[in-house]
Amino acid sequence: MASGGLSFRNITALAPMVRVGTLPMRLLALDYGADVVYCEELIDIKMAKCQRVVNEVLDTVDFVAPDERVMFRTCEREKDRVVFQMGTADPDRALIVAKLVEQDVAAVDVNMGCPKEYSTKGGMGAALLSDPDKIVAILQKLVSGVSIPVTCKIRILPSLEETVSLVRRIEKTGVAAVAVHGRLKEERPRHPLHLDHIQAAARAVSIPVIANGGSLDLVKTNSDIEAFRRASGASSVMLARAAMWNASVFMEGGPLPLEAVMEDYLKHAIRYNNHAFNTKYCLCQMLRDKVESPLGKQLQAAQTTQEISEAFGLQEFYQQIQDQLQVKRNSLQSCSQLEEPLVEGDVTMMAVRFERREYPPHITPKMFLLEWSRKEKLEQPLYEMVQRSEDRSFQSTVTVESKKYRSTLWEKSKKFAEQAAAVVCLRVLGVPEGRIGEEDSGLVCKRKLNGTAEEEGSKKRHVFETQQEADSAASGDSTKSQKL
Ligand SMILES: Cc1cc2nc3c(=O)[nH]c(=O)nc-3n(C[C@H](O)[C@H](O)[C@H](O)COP(=O)(O)O)c2cc1C
Repeated sequence: MASGGLSFRNITALAPMVRVGTLPMRLLALDYGADVVYCEELIDIKMAKCQRVVNEVLDTVDFVAPDERVMFRTCEREKDRVVFQMGTADPDRALIVAKLVEQDVAAVDVNMGCPKEYSTKGGMGAALLSDPDKIVAILQKLVSGVSIPVTCKIRILPSLEETVSLVRRIEKTGVAAVAVHGRLKEERPRHPLHLDHIQAAARAVSIPVIANGGSLDLVKTNSDIEAFRRASGASSVMLARAAMWNASVFMEGGPLPLEAVMEDYLKHAIRYNNHAFNTKYCLCQMLRDKVESPLGKQLQAAQTTQEISEAFGLQEFYQQIQDQLQVKRNSLQSCSQLEEPLVEGDVTMMAVRFERREYPPHITPKMFLLEWSRKEKLEQPLYEMVQRSEDRSFQSTVTVESKKYRSTLWEKSKKFAEQAAAVVCLRVLGVPEGRIGEEDSGLVCKRKLNGTAEEEGSKKRHVFETQQEADSAASGDSTKSQKL
């Protein structure tokens, strides 16, 4: 059930905007005073395929698609302020995605206003407005399934009564707020805003209504935001285009000159390694009719973040950040050079790489560890996997007898990462790991060799006579993948 957390009362929000509402723009809006920032709409089917990856170099959490595209990048700074907006037409899928991002965002929102075909043809966005039962099903599922607030963003319906009746039904689902874009789904952003619908919605419900749609006519400066809030009768205001054109509209006394805002934006884009095309797109949106200016032309010609930085005279800043990130990469790498076991908390670590050629065919350290655990009547080894985003490599931690073992070296494959964790565990425990010639290597402690190694050796041969047996033994490990 949605609990406290983020409040939507009397706030000013950066509206969800496809391609615009990525991390640099959200941080920029927060810098300038926005209380809440919505991400761009992300489609549930695509998000559900993403892996959550902790990016230790950038200090971000990335949700990475199978094609390695970062679909959603977020960071600590916005954790209590960012609303994850999804496009969905399916309650179960919506919940899967909400659970995926729940620990990293402040709230989840469902887009019920997008009139674009890519959204409506799948029954998402504005298509939901003609299926209120579906709206209720999705919102109820989310509200009861996640611990963070749930909101939705709608467009108005043809009559005041219909708009009011819809927001009342939405309120009953337990959502924390509803954003109302005061236009019909057939209307374009240049059409006049139906302030009367937002006013009626605000009167009809007791949850906060967030007024949206005022960028073109009503909100040009920061003081216009309050005027819009009052005129709409709503609790809060959400800005899309006014913020896209100049995010410093959120700043008291704003907006600032555009050049300064573009520079601030670009610094976030550089710092968080934003995709160059996305950065370029957002800067072009800010330039608006100045896109044919000399700066605009230089920007359009730029293909990389370095070239964009040069266009704005930020090449030194760009280089400085690259150097800092490299230092970070190096230090992360050197943390993974341990030759002796190092205990940190409940984890014992060693720098071990699994080399397939060092083991006889069909024999792996995981099998040895499983077999040893069975013999010792212990629970099966439990493997947990993490992946880092900068090079997509894996690290596994194995738990045996409530103790954790991990290699500090990252592996290209999940299988190898698990084998490396098993090797660390076996070496620390002094148990044979099945390596060719390991009796001579000094890696196996004498206690085990003198006592049970020979018996184990014969048992091993017995247990893993066939590849099939070996495979099923290895896959019999209780392996739990946790993508961080
Ligand atoms: C570039 C752009 C992208 C948008 N993408 C989304 C989106 O992803 N989700 C959404 O609910 N609305 C989206 N919208 C609509 C805005 O959130 C907002 O409802 C609309 O622009 C009216 O507000 P405004 O007058 O402040 O611009 C988008 C608008 C623009 C200009």
